[in-house]
Amino acid sequence: MTATVTAPADQHWPWWPLLPIYPYGRRPTLVRELIPGRIWSFEQLHGVWYVAVPIRMTVVRVEDGLMLYSPIPPTGEVLEALRQLERGHGPVRAIVLPTSSGLEHKLPVPAMARAFPSALVWVSDCQWSFPLPLPAGWLGFPKQRTRVLGKDGFPYRDQLRWIPLGPLDLGLGTFLEVACLDLATGSLLVTDALVAIPSSPPLLYDLDPTPLLFHARDKGTEPLIDTAANRLSGWKRIVLFANYFRPANVSVPGSATILSQMFAQGCRNPRCHFGLYPFRWSSGWEADADALMAGFNGWGFALAPVLERLVFPRVREFFVNWLYELARQDAIRQLIACHYHAPLPLTADRLQACGEGLLRGVWAPSDASWTTLARIDDLLLELGVVKEGF
Ligand SMILES: [Fe+2]
Repeated sequence: MTATVTAPADQHWPWWPLLPIYPYGRRPTLVRELIPGRIWSFEQLHGVWYVAVPIRMTVVRVEDGLMLYSPIPPTGEVLEALRQLERGHGPVRAIVLPTSSGLEHKLPVPAMARAFPSALVWVSDCQWSFPLPLPAGWLGFPKQRTRVLGKDGFPYRDQLRWIPLGPLDLGLGTFLEVACLDLATGSLLVTDALVAIPSSPPLLYDLDPTPLLFHARDKGTEPLIDTAANRLSGWKRIVLFANYFRPANVSVPGSATILSQMFAQGCRNPRCHFGLYPFRWSSGWEADADALMAGFNGWGFALAPVLERLVFPRVREFFVNWLYELARQDAIRQLIACHYHAPLPLTADRLQACGEGLLRGVWAPSDASWTTLARIDDLLLELGVVKEGF
């Protein structure tokens, strides 16, 4: 397995505090060969205001070249690494958008399609946009070479098995993601439905640990100090924010307190956001992060809370039936999800046990760290944006 982290040429600090979309136009990419000569992982960070988590494109060697599963933004270094793979394994033949709703996975598709003008673009069915329902062509998919997964078949069916989760009409739009099993290696590629959150910060942060150090603090007067303990604390807090939006055990102090702690010595710089730090963590905050990282039964994988509480809150069986369908695939050996850690060892037996456990356990709770997700769901129901049945 090889790993390369390369810094982009643009390493200056622009006026990014005005626009809190991390990583502020700089997108370093971690390229790892997960299975020699067969599967590669391309990871970048994405998020808002230092709540940044890895997003992954998986490259699979297929019979006549390469397939890109869930493209990431095709920066210069991404394209350079892909051209290098093409020299060894053949051209990029297929670009797959495996989700109808994951905006972070949709947005890079048009640019990636332009970078590889001979590749077919396969998209999941039921694509939608909000607030305006734009036609598919307006979403940037090249009309002549775009195919719909399922309706137009599936690519490389001799090598890959395609297993959809959905479609599920939510009212606002349709949820659908299509998992892909590489039969020869037992690699199960999923988009958002399953996550494997590592118990230590991903390697990608080695290039710039700022998000970890920023969130490791207790108040805005504290400078960013790079220690292993701080990196771990920051990672756990980022995981909580990314999964629950507003986890339990964190509060927002009054504006007077926040402002009084700005511009302290050592924090008068954009990296510290000049001391702007509107969070207070109380004891016990780590428990939910530890549980997410442990995953179901301590096996390291879990259903993302956002999906459980906002997509499947009233249709638990729908999700569990998909797990059971996955569990019928004896070939499964490892999980490669589009976020967080990969690969994670996985078996059909564990997927079956997970489904059975989810049916027995508490589903889509509304208290503690789940409160904000529950409130969003309640609001969407009240506004009629999502359907009561889902
Ligand atoms: Fe995603």
